[in-house]
Formats: sequence, structure tokens, C-alpha cells
Amino acid sequence: MKKKIVVAITGASGAIYAKLLLEKLHQLNDQLTEVAVVMSDNAKQVWKFELDNEEYNNLPFKFYSKHDFMAPFASGSAKFDTMIIVPCSMGTLGRIASGVSDDLVTRAADVILKERRKLILVARDTPLNLIHIRNMQTVTEAGGIICPAVPSFYNKPKTIEDVAMTVVNRIIDLVGLDNETYRWGDK
Ligand SMILES: Cc1cc2nc3c(=O)[nH]c(=O)nc-3n(C[C@H](O)[C@H](O)[C@H](O)COP(=O)(O)O)c2cc1C
Repeated sequence: MKKKIVVAITGASGAIYAKLLLEKLHQLNDQLTEVAVVMSDNAKQVWKFELDNEEYNNLPFKFYSKHDFMAPFASGSAKFDTMIIVPCSMGTLGRIASGVSDDLVTRAADVILKERRKLILVARDTPLNLIHIRNMQTVTEAGGIICPAVPSFYNKPKTIEDVAMTVVNRIIDLVGLDNETYRWGDK
């Protein structure tokens, strides 16, 4: 079944994960009915700072303002089945864990959880304090998936993009999309 996905980008380090994920989703377009994107203000700043561009303006997806409470995915009836927050700041994690739905990112996450659909938080910070860990536990207990922005190295990545793709490919697997990628055990 084709997927209807919301991608939220927040102000944690790792804009590259969001960029590569959106590019990958574009490649896997035939498995998707829709990809809607919302960025926090801080995400825009971090993207510009870390990637030296504002390329998100060129991506072929519909972007929503985080102040747009009329966006379809602010309601469960729009039937988006998956939401990915990538990267997910500790602030956004905390607001979701406490049910503070004060912008479109946190409202959409709240909706996905209440509808018992799939919420994937690509949480990023290090080290973690007890509040972060407890918030991750709360979101996990509510049905969300914490997929930390922690790359792997057993496929011997050569470039920064290769390293970041190890996280992006795990996200794609969690969403449930078919994807050709390195898999441990493959010849
Ligand atoms: C360059 C940069 C990197 C940051 N990296 C992180 C990070 O990895 N994790 C995190 O939780 N916050 C990080 N922050 C702080 C968040 O941007 C800040 O807490 C912000 O209020 C998050 O807002 P948002 O969740 O609405 O995007 C970073 C900020 C900057 C400027």
C-alpha cells in the first residue's frame, strides 16, 4: 500500500539527514501518495548553517508553515499514516512527550500518536540528560519510535553522505518502503 508521509525538520544538528531523506523519498515516489514537509524556524537556520544553502526551497514537496494549523495533517481525518521528525531536537521531543501541541510539528505528532499511527523521531543530541531519556521513554510508551541519529560503520562508508545514509536507510526501513541498500549478511 502506498504511504502518505509527513516529514518534520527541527533544529537539531543533522540537516543532512533531512536533505538525504527527502531526496530518497523523491526517488521512492512510486511507493508514496504524498509527502508533506514542515520545518521549524530553528531547522531553517541550522540547515542554512550546516549545509551552506537553502536548497529545501527546491525540493518538489509541499512545504507548510509551522504556524499553519489548517494543514491537512493537523487532523487525523487526513489519514497520513507516518510522520518522521528528522532531525528531532530535544526541545521538540520534550514538547511531544508532554503533549504540548503548540505548532504544526507538535500537533501533527500528537495526531499521529492519538490515531495509533507511525511516529519516527530521529532524535539527536549528545550526551543525553535524564529528562531526554525519560521523554524518549514516554514517547516510546505512547507508541512512537525513537530512531537516534546514530550512524553505523560496518558498511565502510567513504563520504559524509554515505555515513548519513546509514541512518536514512534505517528510517526508510522503519517506514516500510522497499529500498535497495547494504544489508548485513549480503554477499
Ligand atoms: C547549530 C546548532 C545545532 C544544534 N544542535 C542541536 C542538537 O543536536 N540537538 C538539540 O536538541 N538541539 C540542538 N540545537 C538547539 C535547538 O536548535 C534549539 O533547542 C531549538 O530551540 C529547537 O527548536 P525546534 O525544536 O523548534 O526546532 C542546535 C542549535 C544550533 C544553532
